Amino acid sequence: MQILDGKKAAQAIKDVLQIDVAQRANEGKKIPHLAAILVGNNGASETYVAAKVKACEETGFKSTLIRMDPDTTEFRLLEKIEELNADPDVDGILVQLPLPKSIDDKKVINAIDPSKDVDGFHPMSVGKMVEGLPTFLPATPYGIMLMLEHYKVETKGKHAVVIGRSNIVGRPMSILLSANKNPGNCTVTICHSHTANLKEICLQADIIVAALGIPEFLKADMVKDGAVIIDVGITRVEDSSRKSGFRLKGDVDYDAVAAKSSWITPVPGGVGPMTIAALMKNTYNACDTKN
Ligand code: GUN
Repeated sequence: MQILDGKKAAQAIKDVLQIDVAQRANEGKKIPHLAAILVGNNGASETYVAAKVKACEETGFKSTLIRMDPDTTEFRLLEKIEELNADPDVDGILVQLPLPKSIDDKKVINAIDPSKDVDGFHPMSVGKMVEGLPTFLPATPYGIMLMLEHYKVETKGKHAVVIGRSNIVGRPMSILLSANKNPGNCTVTICHSHTANLKEICLQADIIVAALGIPEFLKADMVKDGAVIIDVGITRVEDSSRKSGFRLKGDVDYDAVAAKSSWITPVPGGVGPMTIAALMKNTYNACDTKN
C-alpha cells in the first residue's frame, strides 16, 4: 500500500505557483487576487476558508475575506458579488457553501462572473467541463485529478466507482475521470443513495472515490485487492481528548481498507490540501488569462 500524500503533492503545486507569482511581480504584472465570501459562522466553513486564505498568503497571492452575518439577505449577497464582479483587481470569487437556508445558492452561483468563477460551479463552467473545453474545474475533483497525475496512478481503461452525486464532487468527478485525457479514460459508475448492489459494484472497482459524507462507510469487504482509494469525506466527530473537541473522519474505514489497497488517501492530509492547491491554480489562471 502506498499513501497518496495530498500535503506533499499540494506543496509541489504551490511551490510552482509561488515561483510563477514572484516572476509576475518582478515583471510588474498583476498579482492573483482571490476574494472569499463567508456567510455566517459555520465552524467547518470557517476552517476551510481560513485554510484557503492562508494558502494564498503563503504563495504570494492577494486575498480578501468578506464576512457576512448569518442573517444577511440574498439581495445583499448578490450586491456584494456584483461589486466583486466589477472590481478589476479581483481575479477569483469564491462563495463558501453551504449558505444559510434562506439564500438560494443556485442564484448566487449564477451571479458570479464566469471569468472569475474559480470554484467552477457556474453553469457556464460546468457546460465547458462537460464538453472538455478549457475552463475552471471544481476544486475538489480537479485536485483529485492533479493528485492522480502527481503520483502517476494509471487510470486508462480502469473501472472507477464514484460514490456520491453532488454538484461539488461526485458528478464532476465522474465527468473528469471519464474524459479522453490522462489522467482520465476510466469507465465510470456513479453510485448514490438509491443504488442497488452497491457492495457488488464497489468490488468491481479499480478506483473508488468515496464522497458521500458518511464516516467509515466504505469497508474492507467492499473493496477488491489492489484498488486505488480516494477518500473525500471530512466529517467532524466528537473527540474529548482533542483540544478542538473533534477529529476528522473520512468516508473510508481506513486501516482495514488500506491493507487491501494499492494507493489510498489519508484523512486529513489527502484530498483536502489538493482542493486548495486546485483553487490556487484556478485563481492564478483567472489572473493570467486577463493580465
Ligand atoms: N463547500 C464544500 N466544498 C466547497 C468548495 O469546493 N467550494 C466552496 N465554495 N464551498 C464548498
